[in-house]
Amino acid sequence: MSQLFSPIKLAGLELSNRIVIAPMCQYSSADGSVTDWHMSHLGMLANSGAGLLVVEATHVERHGRITHGCAGLYSDDNEAEMKKVIDHCRRIGTAKLGIQLAHAGRKASAQRPWEGGGPLKNGQDAWQTIAPSSIPFGEGWHTPKEMSLDDIKRVQEAFVDSAKRAVRIGFDLIELHYAHGYLAHSFFSPVSNKRTDQYGSSLENRMRFGRELARAVRAVVPNHIPLGARLSAMEWRNDSFTPDETVTYTKALKADGLDFVDCSSGGITADTRNPTDPGYNVPIAEQVKREAGIATRVVGLIVAPDQAEAIVADGKADMVAMARAVLNDPRWGWHAAAALGTEVQRVNQYLRVGPKLWAPAAQRART
Ligand SMILES: Cc1cc2nc3c(=O)[nH]c(=O)nc-3n(C[C@H](O)[C@H](O)[C@H](O)COP(=O)(O)O)c2cc1C
Repeated sequence: MSQLFSPIKLAGLELSNRIVIAPMCQYSSADGSVTDWHMSHLGMLANSGAGLLVVEATHVERHGRITHGCAGLYSDDNEAEMKKVIDHCRRIGTAKLGIQLAHAGRKASAQRPWEGGGPLKNGQDAWQTIAPSSIPFGEGWHTPKEMSLDDIKRVQEAFVDSAKRAVRIGFDLIELHYAHGYLAHSFFSPVSNKRTDQYGSSLENRMRFGRELARAVRAVVPNHIPLGARLSAMEWRNDSFTPDETVTYTKALKADGLDFVDCSSGGITADTRNPTDPGYNVPIAEQVKREAGIATRVVGLIVAPDQAEAIVADGKADMVAMARAVLNDPRWGWHAAAALGTEVQRVNQYLRVGPKLWAPAAQRART
């Protein structure tokens, strides 16, 4: 029996399987408000066969967006437009619906990828970025303002406000973006955090921003709604935190009320590169799951059904998340179910696609 297609419970939420569509920025919002593009894109992915669809990095303040096209949840208009899309996905799809709340920190004020992906230039409505320390992301990037204690409080409150909006919209799950060099990750990383106050230097101090944030958001997210974080669990550098420190951080976040983590990695500076081997985050996810004892998801070059099945069946992670493979094949979950000889929930309109269609072909292939 497929383990990938077995249900899992996170807080009060049951997912029908362990396939998760990873959050993916679409750079197609208008002042933070999602648009018709999201109606189609998320509507399509809500019927991919995944148990959970996580909406892209959705920023908690206007200047916390990566680009002018990024999604936000900082205004009533943002909330109303997101609600329309989520209500739509719920009406027409099978996946449960999550959202990633984010602040881009020193990687904000950037161009959309197809406009270059670099920092916004003069005349492109650039803005002052913020970070734990006044160190740019890379050569030519904006120099961020070192955050004051008031800035820290303001951003944490913005996360809380956005989380309340997400609960009102009716999301099934909320995840905090603690990865890829964005604000929360840049507090945890000794590469980007050179502070000497209570938010920097020691491990305890570098964990403080993320821990306070987790507790503050947990306080407004009802316990039945799973709350988690996507971590950069590794940085692929020798001068940064260790896997053991990631485990310590995860244990602390669990104590602060998080229900799950997603192990991603990298992104702390413009010149660091992630590995390109299949499932490159699986070893750190396995360590986090084993040592921190929290529901663990893993992401990164997971593309084949038997690969995903083995990760879950071997106990290396509780869930797998996928991004590019699902853009390439938006019915990935259906096709994985067929390949693994199991069934998946489908909407009524598409029920005629199923074992009757693919079983004879599979039978022919076996004989
Ligand atoms: C178009 C695109 C947009 C992305 N946007 C986000 C995002 O909003 N939040 C995030 O945490 N990761 C984002 N990522 C990273 C993916 O979620 C994922 O971690 C990464 O692509 C590795 O998984 P994959 O090998 O399955 O693509 C994005 C990736 C892609 C391809």
